[in-house]
Amino acid sequence: MNITDSIFYVGVNDRNKHLFEGLWPVPYGVSYNSYIISDGKTALVDTVDVNFFDKYIGKIHEVIGDRKIDYLIINHMEPDHSGSIKLIRKYYPDIVLVGNKQTLAMVNGYYGETGATLEVKDGDVLSLGKHQLSFHLIPMVHWPETMVTYDSTENVLFSGDAFGCFGALNGGVIDCKINTDIYWDEMERYYSCIVGKYGAQVQRALAKLAGIPIDTICSTHGPVWREEIPRVISVYDRLSKYEAEEGVVIAYGTMYGNTEQMAETIAETLSENGIRNVVLHNLSKSDQSYVLKDIFKYKGLILGAPTYNNSIYPEMEYLMSKLEMRDLKHRYLGCFGSFTWAGQAVRRLDAFADKVKYEVVASSVEMKQGFCSDIKEKCINLAVAMADRLKSDRI
Ligand code: FEO
Repeated sequence: MNITDSIFYVGVNDRNKHLFEGLWPVPYGVSYNSYIISDGKTALVDTVDVNFFDKYIGKIHEVIGDRKIDYLIINHMEPDHSGSIKLIRKYYPDIVLVGNKQTLAMVNGYYGETGATLEVKDGDVLSLGKHQLSFHLIPMVHWPETMVTYDSTENVLFSGDAFGCFGALNGGVIDCKINTDIYWDEMERYYSCIVGKYGAQVQRALAKLAGIPIDTICSTHGPVWREEIPRVISVYDRLSKYEAEEGVVIAYGTMYGNTEQMAETIAETLSENGIRNVVLHNLSKSDQSYVLKDIFKYKGLILGAPTYNNSIYPEMEYLMSKLEMRDLKHRYLGCFGSFTWAGQAVRRLDAFADKVKYEVVASSVEMKQGFCSDIKEKCINLAVAMADRLKSDRI
């Protein structure tokens, strides 16, 4: 598949995996993208998950036949891209592995590679003939060794995971030749789950790349971007600034439906008070990757859970832990909880609120045993406070 006359797609689709990183569902699959730049010298950019090596080497041979590969450029060492390095070296014993200092140390650590390497520094240039490749370090997007490779001859950015998304490629590869509808939500979910902790580093990377003319983005997951480059960059820019739309995610745990009555009352009140974007997630059912995606999307967050084992309902503990890990910022928060004989859930939610320093819109609502008119009134007040806070941001 041609990206340009001399750049070829040799990636593979994984429609078998249930959980990416063993954590995140991939209902549309995921692609591991790799590219060949064919010039006086030939370069392979990143590899694929080793489980797909047979298919991968077949694609490489289709593009270059028996020609040798001179360089393997390693933008990112996570094994979904580096997994085939060892086998590539077996097929092409003279290949030179190109990476920065941290990358080459990781190559050795993961694969015990001792063959030819070329260590590059930020801004270094490698000539393939017509194609001039420069290397730009973007540490912690989302590993420390991450870099991007820029082909100034054809204005192509090989961006590693940056600008990537979940979703296998359905036939075509380049955005202008395929229906990209499924990828936008999957980009936000990918970002929230995989990159979300590193907003400041993504901002630094965007600033660093801002002056470079880019006609094509070749990332390691999802479509090759050409027509949609402004939208892709704006998604990454917005998410990495932790900017959010008007709306509320109500994430709650419930065992017998009592705590859920609080969630439903809050949702109805938000709607009655002019908040159109209200998303409820029952944490026993919603996969947390979708909850995270929606929390990254909307400004308001309301968390609710029962007490469980003298602590909080476990699914809520997992969610709070994921939010803390991602250092998510700039949210309005409200909390509610319940107990039967000794209340702990609200105490734990309040401790979370203190720690993450979100703006708390109202006191937490605590319910003992069943739902009643007094609790209903408190839930309504919480929802009204959230709606008022959100509406105060309207211009
Ligand atoms: Fe797709 Fe961070 O590896």
